[in-house]
Amino acid sequence: MNNNQLLTKFKHIFKNMFKTKSPDDLIAEGKKSELSKTLTVWDLIILGIGAVVGTGIFTIVGIAAQGGPEGVGAGPALVISMVVAAVACVFAALCYSEFASMIPVAGSAYTYTYATMGEFMAWMVGWVLMLEYAIGNITVASAWTGYLFQLLKGFSHVLPAWLVNPPIWLINDYRSATIICQRDHLDPNVVIPHILGLPISINIPAILIVALLTVVLIRGVKESTRFASIMVALNLLVIISFVVVGIFYVKPENWVPFAPNGFEGVFMGAFLIFFAYIGFDAISTTAEETKNPQRDLPIGIIGTLVICTILYIVVALVLTGMMPYSQIDFQAPIAHAMRVVGQDRLAGFISVGALAGLTSVLLIYQLGTTRILYAMSRDGFLPKSMRQINKKFRTPHVLTWVAGLIVIIGTLFMDINISAELCNFGTFTSFIIVCAAVLILRKTDPDRHRPFRVPFSPLFPILGILTCGGLMVYSMGNLKTSSLLFPLWLLIGFVIYVTYSYRKQRELEAKKEELINRAKKVKAKTKIS
Ligand code: ALA
Repeated sequence: MNNNQLLTKFKHIFKNMFKTKSPDDLIAEGKKSELSKTLTVWDLIILGIGAVVGTGIFTIVGIAAQGGPEGVGAGPALVISMVVAAVACVFAALCYSEFASMIPVAGSAYTYTYATMGEFMAWMVGWVLMLEYAIGNITVASAWTGYLFQLLKGFSHVLPAWLVNPPIWLINDYRSATIICQRDHLDPNVVIPHILGLPISINIPAILIVALLTVVLIRGVKESTRFASIMVALNLLVIISFVVVGIFYVKPENWVPFAPNGFEGVFMGAFLIFFAYIGFDAISTTAEETKNPQRDLPIGIIGTLVICTILYIVVALVLTGMMPYSQIDFQAPIAHAMRVVGQDRLAGFISVGALAGLTSVLLIYQLGTTRILYAMSRDGFLPKSMRQINKKFRTPHVLTWVAGLIVIIGTLFMDINISAELCNFGTFTSFIIVCAAVLILRKTDPDRHRPFRVPFSPLFPILGILTCGGLMVYSMGNLKTSSLLFPLWLLIGFVIYVTYSYRKQRELEAKKEELINRAKKVKAKTKIS
């Protein structure tokens, strides 16, 4: 091949990689969807709160205030971190709303990217969204086990000891089990059993809850929302009770010094607590199951974010006011704060609510993973057989199991911190891309009907890119492990695209062209005869 031929070939590949899908085609495909349209605006807000309020506010808030092994904490300035994270989210939420109402299709950021930046970027965003939804669920499943044993310990006088205190290798991934052994001055090689030289440490409760929720999800999205609404009601009741009771124990002197680690603490806190806000975007993945998506999706997305921001700010103020920030607990900060002030019953009730909150996050994230994979399979990135719809329940049962299995397998290898950080990196990336996609489509397709428009564009989308990008780059300097794993994840996605997805797309195109040519020939023949 000479230089010119090589150049032409590269140009051709490049053109294919950036081939966009027309929003009209995407909308038409969405309309043909076999998924049942049952969700109302209230269902969306319930789904939103259910997806947002979970591990972030019940667990990560402790590390965000105090700092962890790879970064300093915000201290009482946690409330400022909450506001910074909310600001980063609000611009993205507005951009998601513009897209979700304009292209109400299941794939969320993946679909919006396909419409604006083309095939390659769409694949990469779909791949990155798996970090947010599937890897994020590993964090939530691990936190779920933690809270389950918090709760069971409260009943240690009636429950058998094996249930309250099982061996650590049956309730933890290997990395966490090793850390616990080291903390308790035990030898991990003795405590953790080995088979054929391989250590065996399996988080059984996490696996069981994910398997159970997979079955619930297969039974139907409406049933799943009903289940989520019970969890959300309990969850909100617990948070409101914490605030109402906790406010009486606030001592303003605990807010001094307000920001012990200055800007660094506030920004690291904002990066970590960003996890608490993730989830409002999950609403957009149910677009094809929403009765009136153009009106209801923006209300659902923005409504969820506003409600959660108010809740979080109040919780942060009360929590940091109840005790010196250095005494805030890592594992169950909210329940622990109540125990410290002698409210043991409420502390137990908080553990129940936290479990409910974590269950709803697990459920909705798995729903999100499935719907994104569904959209990717419809576009030919994944085999068609994966998109099979269950005849009785009209849900994509194969993909629902795939999504469940990703989390189950992930819990064997990843711990709570690494999976949360990776989830944050993935979400920041998808938020930045959605903000950029709004700007691109406003330029390339300015006249398209937009039932909802981001106000003050291009300023707001640009601010979304800057705040999300700023937090991401800032934290990368500190979080060594996940800053290595994140580019590795991108690289794996790139390799899969180059070796499999690109070729599959071309095969699909060739098939489509053949069908069109055949149809043309038949048409021509009928004209002649
Ligand atoms: N926002 C969700 C949570 O905090 C991911 O669990």
